[in-house]
Amino acid sequence: MTAKVKVQQLFDLTGKVALVTGGNNLGYDAAETLAELGAIVVITRREQEAAARTAAQLAQETGAEVAGAALEVTDEASWKAVVEDIVAKYGRIDILINNAGGRKVSVIPETVEDDPSFEFLETRLLEDWKYTMDANLTSVFLGCRTVAPHMKGARSGKIINMASIDGIVGRDLRIYPGSGLSPTVPDYLASKAGVINLTKGIGVSLAPFGIYVNAISPGGFYREQPDKFVENYTRLVPLGRMGRDRIDLKGSIAYLASSASDYTVGHNLVIDGGLTSW
Ligand SMILES: NC(=O)c1ccc[n+]([C@@H]2O[C@H](COP(=O)([O-])OP(=O)(O)OC[C@H]3O[C@@H](n4cnc5c(N)ncnc54)[C@H](O)[C@@H]3O)[C@@H](O)[C@H]2O)c1
Repeated sequence: MTAKVKVQQLFDLTGKVALVTGGNNLGYDAAETLAELGAIVVITRREQEAAARTAAQLAQETGAEVAGAALEVTDEASWKAVVEDIVAKYGRIDILINNAGGRKVSVIPETVEDDPSFEFLETRLLEDWKYTMDANLTSVFLGCRTVAPHMKGARSGKIINMASIDGIVGRDLRIYPGSGLSPTVPDYLASKAGVINLTKGIGVSLAPFGIYVNAISPGGFYREQPDKFVENYTRLVPLGRMGRDRIDLKGSIAYLASSASDYTVGHNLVIDGGLTSW
């Protein structure tokens, strides 16, 4: 029989070294979770100055050891520089949260009705499509492959890739008319679906090395969107509200970054208030 382990022990990250990309909003929440559980955290932004400011805030708020680093997640050389610095300074890297992501929208239809596809299908610039695929999907591939050799050496590691419910379902277009916002772009949907299955593929190949790769798919988080949008959106959510920054992501990060998830591989943990359960 295996020895009993207390649940507090399973979630404890004391002394673990974590790298979190894209350190504002959900990235900040992820980093805060790891810091609160005892990890040493390196938080990245595109610019060093922003990274240092974010790191100082997190250190002050949590009392944890936090460093900031500049990282361009679409650039392999940038990944190598950051990861090598972490390994040189701390001797290892235990946790990677591939959180950074984005999209570029150079051409916005004036109203949703201007684009009958409601998905920017005809208006989308190919260069914008490629930008999103790089920022959301290529970035995750680069992060996993830069960190994996170090985790393989240690025969342990936890990688969490931020996907989205937009990688699982299409958008309900009834949300948008009159809301002041446009539906998300098709490349965002495709890139996040890619993250979910890339997580399964890499998860399977790294599992024998004691490296756990999983994904989180958040639904919409509240960021002062127009009232009409919030009303339309929350009507679709069984819990009747949008996600809350600083709260609703934290449990999923704690689970997938810690030994609490030591029998979970290639999973996509959905945090959407039930939106994709209808
Ligand atoms: N906010 C939501 O409701 C929501 C829902 C589902 C999924 N997500 C996903 O969760 C993650 C975080 O979301 P958020 O709302 O905090 O996003 P955000 O836009 O507030 O922050 C994203 C961060 O990624 C960084 N980033 C983007 N492209 C980069 C690049 N090429 N190199 C380096 N940094 C780059 C940005 O500078 C920013 O710091 C993203 O992957 C997003 O797609 C968010």
